[in-house]
Amino acid sequence: MENNDSEKNKKIKIKGLDHLSVAVPDIEKAIDFYQNSFGCEVSNTKILENQGVKIAYVDLGNVQLELMEPYGETSPIKKFLDRNSSGGIHHFCLRTEDFERALQTTRQEGMQVLGDGSASISHHGKKFFFIHPKDTFGSLIEIEEDQNDH
Ligand code: CO
Repeated sequence: MENNDSEKNKKIKIKGLDHLSVAVPDIEKAIDFYQNSFGCEVSNTKILENQGVKIAYVDLGNVQLELMEPYGETSPIKKFLDRNSSGGIHHFCLRTEDFERALQTTRQEGMQVLGDGSASISHHGKKFFFIHPKDTFGSLIEIEEDQNDH
């Protein structure tokens, strides 16, 4: 069937937006802001030592907003905050049903996967990778595997 064929031709199959992520200089102040000015529910903060960030999730209703504060001297978001001192949108994360295919396609199309070029495992056990903004019209895009128990 034609529909099936066009589905198959989609190289990176996107299931939806998983989260938006903002880098902030002070996560406690940012949590306060989203709780008090917008009345949002915010998760507990978590330190992800190997990723060099302290994070919390704001429930926006249809999507999560990830707040990230740099953790440690070698934090990968430190440079971003040096350039954007009050913080700013850092990346957005798309879910894909076919993670291996997404990674393979990204490489085949000549897009740069950040880090050592392989996938990483998130704190909630999902595989993910980032595509360099030079290959995506200026946005840092995170691709994450979709799991049914999400
Ligand atoms: Co993210």
